[in-house]
Amino acid sequence: MDKLIITGGVTLDGDIRISGAKNAALPILAATLLADEPVTVGNIPHLHDITTTMELLGQMGVGLVVDEKLNIEVDTSTIEKFYAPYELVKTMRASILVLGPLLARFGRAEVSLPGGCAIGSRPVNLHIEGLARMGADIEVKNGFIHARAKRLKGAHLVLDQVTVTGTENLMMAATLAEGTTIIENAAREPEVVDVARCLIAMGAHIEGAGTDTLIIEGVQRLGGTHHYVLPDRIETGTYLVAGAMTGGRVKVKDTNPAMLESVLEKLEQAEIKLNTGDDWIEVDARGQRPQAIDIRTAPYPAFPTDMQAQFTALNSVAEGSGMISETVFENRFMHVQELQRMGADIKLEGNVAITQGIKRLTAAPVMATDLRASASLVLAGLVAEGDTLVDRIYHIDRGYERIEEKLAQLGARIHRVPG
Ligand code: UD1
Repeated sequence: MDKLIITGGVTLDGDIRISGAKNAALPILAATLLADEPVTVGNIPHLHDITTTMELLGQMGVGLVVDEKLNIEVDTSTIEKFYAPYELVKTMRASILVLGPLLARFGRAEVSLPGGCAIGSRPVNLHIEGLARMGADIEVKNGFIHARAKRLKGAHLVLDQVTVTGTENLMMAATLAEGTTIIENAAREPEVVDVARCLIAMGAHIEGAGTDTLIIEGVQRLGGTHHYVLPDRIETGTYLVAGAMTGGRVKVKDTNPAMLESVLEKLEQAEIKLNTGDDWIEVDARGQRPQAIDIRTAPYPAFPTDMQAQFTALNSVAEGSGMISETVFENRFMHVQELQRMGADIKLEGNVAITQGIKRLTAAPVMATDLRASASLVLAGLVAEGDTLVDRIYHIDRGYERIEEKLAQLGARIHRVPG
């Protein structure tokens, strides 16, 4: 298992380019299953979760061609299986995103039920219930979701809870259903909007993307398109926090400040200077220590749970005390114990982390437990005294493209140790 070794204490300074968003690329690759012509997807990040998705589509018999610009062309004309095996679903929960498209276009899907995960129980009941409301015959047996439908029917769905992949799954399924589907309490995340944009380019009729009500008029078929994935707002935010924590200057390019309003607001509250342009953001924290801030995570446009761990790391070296409440996932504080091992003063009370900032963390061997928790440990390593060894970084490789190269480009002393 690869590890990262980070020698802390370097003030980051430089520019980096942000990759395409993992959480848009995954549903968009699943959405290609709806099209009866090839779909090309560009700005796909080079990540382990993408490889897993390609493996998943490949196993079904779908044709995949990657060109020299790393666009992926997906051709579903050769599909012969409608199946997502446990071996792949257990490594990537987003595999559930093939359920809606397979069912809508081919009338059948067998998808392994994702198990528990490091950040909470994460059920998929809303995906299943929504599809059942659209007329699917669904049975959960032997750890698999067995779904059948002649043709899905439009339905009025009111989601009990805001769910990102749940909204995407149901929206994708509704594009080929008979009649109109209304999804209320839909997720408003920019990635949901990007999936809708791609589906519309394929010929779908969708209104309301980016609001909490989606209206989808089913069509007979969807065709080919070329889609360019939007930038990764969580990767963007992570590098901005890296700049802020190290008292450095970091400019992130090929991103979109409009998608990060809640995150930028928190950096401003931390008294970090920010400059923005159409597609770039610069954090300038030279000679400065951030102020601790209070945060409450919630669905978009509120503060993203996927940035919670990184800001917990920031608060641990900030001036003063800060309170971070996690409301989206029940158990998303696995990084706290590891940060404590690096000297952080954090008290956990249920879903609230109260941090008293200290000047400097101290290096320790730490273990990554999930994707964003791992990012927070890398950030902590950047400001810790000594060499921090982050183990189990396959979690990071699932969601951050070449993290050690990008950080090294900003001056960090970081290297990967193969193991
Ligand atoms: C997506 C993101 C993930 C992010 C999360 C919240 C992808 C591939 N992943 O995950 O990075 O952290 O949104 O922004 O886009 N829930 C139910 N029943 C369901 C579905 C969800 O109870 O059927 C609950 C979950 O347990 C959780 C909450 O709803 O408490 C939100 O989860 P959800 O938005 O579905 O997360 P994901 O789509 O899995």
